Amino acid sequence: MGLEERLCSVGDVEPGSARRFDLGKRRIAVVRLGDDWYAVGDRCTHQDVSLAEGEVHADSLQIECWKHGSCFSLTDGAPHSLPATKPVEVYDLRVDGDDVYVVLP
Ligand code: FES
Repeated sequence: MGLEERLCSVGDVEPGSARRFDLGKRRIAVVRLGDDWYAVGDRCTHQDVSLAEGEVHADSLQIECWKHGSCFSLTDGAPHSLPATKPVEVYDLRVDGDDVYVVLP
């Protein structure tokens, strides 16, 4: 079990969107889809680009890097399209009232 840290408030992330949060050197893209929350590494594994600035695909549960279009799974971090070939990290999130917590490995 990793360390749990408070990341943000529920109202900090608009439904259907992604937002980047930094915890120390760690960059995390938090995605909110209705009542479902996801957290993946914010840094695209192709180049140093913020995935939170890309488009969220609610139907396929992926986030698309805006620079070259690689789509990463929100559930396991795997890239589903080139040019990225390596997965991003995936974090467990817990929502407790108005607080959103992330579990750091
Ligand atoms: S920087 Fe993300 S796909 Fe190239």
